[in-house]
Amino acid sequence: MCGIVGAIASGNVTPILMDGLRRLEYRGYDSAGIAVLTEGGRLHRIRSVGKVAQLAERLAADPLAGPLGIAHTRWATHGMPAERNAHPHMSGERVAVVHNGIIENHAELRARLAAAGFRFTSETDTEVIAHLLAHLLDQEGDLLRAVQRAVGELVGAYALGVVCPDEPHRLVAARAGSPLVVGLGEGAAYIASDVFALLPVTRRFLFLEEGDVAELTRGGVRVFDATGAPVERPVRVTAVSAAAAEKGPYRHYMLKEIHEQPAVIAETLEGRVHRGRLLEEAFGHEARALLDRTRGVHIVACGTSYHAGLVARYWLEELGVPAQVEVASEYRYRAVVVPEGTLFVTISQSGETADTLAALRRARGLGYVGSLTVCNVPESSLVRESDVAVMTRAGPEIGVASTKAFTTQLVALRLLAIALGRRRGLDAARERALCDELEALPRQVEAALRLDEAIRGLAEAFADKSHALFLGRGVFYPVAMEGALKLKEISYIHAEAYPAGELKHGPLALVDAEMPVVCTLPRDPLLEKVLSNLQEVRARGGELFLFSDGEVEIPLDRYRSLPLTDTCPSTAPIVYTVPLQLLAYHAAVLKGTDVDQPRNLAKSVTVE
Ligand code: G6P
Repeated sequence: MCGIVGAIASGNVTPILMDGLRRLEYRGYDSAGIAVLTEGGRLHRIRSVGKVAQLAERLAADPLAGPLGIAHTRWATHGMPAERNAHPHMSGERVAVVHNGIIENHAELRARLAAAGFRFTSETDTEVIAHLLAHLLDQEGDLLRAVQRAVGELVGAYALGVVCPDEPHRLVAARAGSPLVVGLGEGAAYIASDVFALLPVTRRFLFLEEGDVAELTRGGVRVFDATGAPVERPVRVTAVSAAAAEKGPYRHYMLKEIHEQPAVIAETLEGRVHRGRLLEEAFGHEARALLDRTRGVHIVACGTSYHAGLVARYWLEELGVPAQVEVASEYRYRAVVVPEGTLFVTISQSGETADTLAALRRARGLGYVGSLTVCNVPESSLVRESDVAVMTRAGPEIGVASTKAFTTQLVALRLLAIALGRRRGLDAARERALCDELEALPRQVEAALRLDEAIRGLAEAFADKSHALFLGRGVFYPVAMEGALKLKEISYIHAEAYPAGELKHGPLALVDAEMPVVCTLPRDPLLEKVLSNLQEVRARGGELFLFSDGEVEIPLDRYRSLPLTDTCPSTAPIVYTVPLQLLAYHAAVLKGTDVDQPRNLAKSVTVE
C-alpha cells in the first residue's frame, strides 16, 4: 500500500502535494516521487529512495512549480525500493501515473505492451498502466476515455491519479479496491488516499465508489461509474479537524496516541452507556433486528485488530455467545462452515485493510445473518459495505503501531458483548455492574499512564536484548500477544507471546538471563496458576517483569514489578494493555528506532 495525492489549481500545487505526502507517509515510506506540469507544458518528475524528507531535499535543489501534479509515497510490493521503481511512472513524456494497489494481470499486460514496442524501465506493476494508457491515448485521443478503457483491462486493486501534458486542464482518477477521496476547493480539485492529506486545503469531499472514474478540473469534478455513465456522488463536509492529526508537544505520534486513551475511551462510551445501561439504539436502528437474529459470531481481522477479536472471544463466550476469531488472510481462502444465526464481525482501525475487506465480501455469500464492523474511519470501505458499523472514536491514529485504536476497539467490543449477552439472559443488575466498570475505565487508564516514568526505567533492561517472552493466561493471553507485537514492531526485538500454561511445552528451553519475561498478573481466577508458571521461569534464571494488581502477593525470589492498583475484572485487559504499550515505546526510543514509522511496515495494508 502506498499514499497518493494529486491536485489541479490555478497556483503552484507543489507545496500541496508535498504536504499531502508528509501526511500520507504512514502508508509507506521506502521511496517517494512527484510529477508536475510546469510552464511550457512539460511534465517534470523527481523521485527519490527513502522518506518524503529526502524527496523534499531533492526538490529544494531542483524546484518544481506548476498548476497540475501528482505525487506518491511508496511501500514496495512489485520491485525493490529503488528510484526506478518509485512513482510517478511515465510512458515517455505522454502520461504520468501514481498508483496504490496491485495489478494481478501485470505480467500478461507487460508482455503485450513490450511486444507493441513499449520499453519498461522498472519492475513495477504500475509502469504497465502508464504504457497501457499511452497506447490507448493513441487510439482514443482523450485522457478520460483512455483511463476508462484502461481500467477495464486491469485485474486487481487500484487507486490511480493520471496526468497528461497534452491535456493540461484535467487530472483523471479512478479507484477499485484501494481507497481514494476527491477533495473540492475553490477553483481547485484534489485527490488523495485519505482525507487527512487534504485537510489543509479543503474540508469538502466526495468518496468514489468501486469502479468509479473521476475527471477533475479547476471548474469541478465529474464522476462516471464502472459502466461509464455519469453519476452524482454526495459531497460531504468532514468533521475531522486538521489539528487532530498533529503531533503537538509529544516526541512521537505513538506517545501522543497512548496518552490520548483516557479521552478517546470516554468518547467511545459517550451516548452509548448511561446510568448503568447500554443504550443499544446508539448502534443505529438496523442493529437491533440484526442482533436479535444473532446466535453466535465469527470475527475476522488483521494485526492488532485481530488481537482485539481474540480478547472479545473470551468476553462473548463468558456471556454465552459462541464466538470464533480468525485472521482475514486465512479466512478468505478456506472453506468455512457457518452455523445458523451467525453474525460476521470485522474489526479494523482503517476500514481499508485489503484482506479484511475481501473476507467481508466473501462472507456475503456464505449465509451469515449480516455483517457488523468495529471501525475507526467513518467513510471507509468496511463501514460502507457492512450492515452495521460500531464506530470507535479514537480519532486519527498516525503511529504505525496501533495503540488507542486497539483499546477503543476493546471498548466497542465490550458494548457488543453486552448487547448480545442481553439476548442470552444477562440480567439488569449484572449489566449495571458491567457498564459501571466501563465508565470507570478512563480514570483507570489515566492511573496506568502515571507509570510512564517507572516503565521507562524497566525498558532499559530490554534495549540490549534480542528476544523477549510475553506470558498471560485466559483473556490476558491475547493481551500478551499485543504486548509482544508492539515490542517487535517498533523495537525490532524478537518477542513472542505464550499462554503461560504452555511454557513447559517448549519455550522454557529458551529461558535464561538474556530472555526477559514479561507477564501480567491481574487478580483473577487464574492468578495462582500463573504464579506457579512464573516459578518455572525463575528456576531457569529468567528475568521477570511483572505488571500486577497492587494487592497481589508475589511469592517469587526475584522480579521487577509495577502495580496497577485500580482495575475491574471485565475491563482489566484494556488497562493492562497500556503499560505494555509504554514498555515497547520506551524500549524503541532507547534503541533509537523510528518509532512512528518502523522499517518495512505500514499503517494501512491495502494490498493483499
Ligand atoms: C497493519 C498495521 C497494524 C494494524 C493492521 C490491521 O499491519 O500496521 O497496526 O493492526 O494493519 O489494520 P486495520 O486498519 O485493519 O486495523
